[in-house]
Amino acid sequence: AYVITDPCIDVKDGDCTVACPVDCIYEGGRMFYIHPGECINCGLCLSVCPVDAISWDEEIPQSRVQFKAVNQDFFGPD
Ligand code: SF4
Ligand code: F3S
Repeated sequence: AYVITDPCIDVKDGDCTVACPVDCIYEGGRMFYIHPGECINCGLCLSVCPVDAISWDEEIPQSRVQFKAVNQDFFGPD
């Protein structure tokens, strides 16, 4: 699944939610989160984020790898 990372914090542009065809991006507190079970891996959100906050989870930079858990934890355990 795709993952939203720290550049989204306090920016919350929201264009990713418009781009997402399955509405699996949710607002919560200081950032938005992608539901890993609902994301269809289309990649459409990636290019619309003005701050490049979205990463494919298998290519996520080491400095942001904790955001895989941050996105998952927002929705609770499976
Ligand atoms: Fe939505 Fe596609 Fe982005 Fe997943 S990759 S969050 S399905 S736009
Ligand atoms: Fe955040 Fe970028 Fe979406 S700033 S709300 S991930 S468009």
